[in-house]
Amino acid sequence: MGFKIAVAGATGNVGREMLTILSERGFPADEVVALASSRSVGTEVSFGDKTLKVHNLDTYDFSDTDICLMSAGGAASLKYSPKIGAQGCVVIDNSSAWRYDAEVPLIVPEVNPDAIVGFTKKNIIANPNCSTAQLVVALKPLHDRATIKRVVVSTYQSVSGAGKDGMDELFNQTRAVFVADPIESKKFTKRIAFNVIPHIDVFMEDGYTKEEWKVLAETKKMLDPKIRVTCTAVRVPVFIGHSESVNIEFENEITADEAREILREAPGCQVIDKHENGGYITPYESAGEDATYISRIREDATVEHGLNLWVVSDNLRKGAALNTVQIAELLVNRGLIKAKKQAA
Ligand code: A2P
Repeated sequence: MGFKIAVAGATGNVGREMLTILSERGFPADEVVALASSRSVGTEVSFGDKTLKVHNLDTYDFSDTDICLMSAGGAASLKYSPKIGAQGCVVIDNSSAWRYDAEVPLIVPEVNPDAIVGFTKKNIIANPNCSTAQLVVALKPLHDRATIKRVVVSTYQSVSGAGKDGMDELFNQTRAVFVADPIESKKFTKRIAFNVIPHIDVFMEDGYTKEEWKVLAETKKMLDPKIRVTCTAVRVPVFIGHSESVNIEFENEITADEAREILREAPGCQVIDKHENGGYITPYESAGEDATYISRIREDATVEHGLNLWVVSDNLRKGAALNTVQIAELLVNRGLIKAKKQAA
């Protein structure tokens, strides 16, 4: 007997991708339920070659549901996840609401799968920020080999990370530029069409943004608290795919050739690194793909043991929906949950 899975936020960018990935990977589900706000009740979303009617998250009874993949924003997660967890349904949450809670494991299966056992305290597992997920997939095998001391990362983040409203804003502004209509900015703080914005999420007291803080806090929680990380997070006019320029300082010697070999073998990584025109990955090519792509691997001669990398991944997949489904697979494959219907 298979599992009963709910996807909360099923009408959003990430929720729709979760349904696609559950179907693509043949997740062992007997039943999949789509949930969103009362606004969406009765609308339909695709699940493989089927369609699912959307139900109201607010009134849904989770007592016979095994896993809830949640991507309905932080406020909804704070409100609903504890109630869902208390009904014996494991929540895998894509928002930042639970990531820094010591009783909630923050998981990237290629990086810290063993930490998942801590989920039983609250029945909640957190999925990392999109920029952090792809970053730690690339850092983990290099850290295992040469011990990372410090990372400097600059992100180039696509508008889909800001939800479907972010994608609509880039589309509408781009169109408005061509037809000379007035440019309206609602989702982003400045015009995003033909521009870049060095501001994602709210400002913090020290002048960093919350998005930048998330990258360092989450890298420390998942990979190693001793690693020093600093970040500049930038929104760029790309629909799907986050890119990162990553400068790494190691404790021990590691050459660019060694790093290339290690990353070629590493789970979740794909190296595309030819020193020729087009011999590297761009976000456009990463859209719809599962891998974390690594290009432009170079030694940084300004420090004792340094490397530069270009890391790109589909932020809706590895940065969100794919990683969430992989966490659900980890729960199932390690026998950490049993289907309720089977258990009854
Ligand atoms: P809805 O479409 O009914 O508003 P995105 O991040 O792409 O904008 O998507 C957000 C998702 O989260 C949507 O599916 C949205 O549903 C859902 N959502 C947002 N707030 C709530 C809420 N309070 N209760 C249930 N679903 C919510």
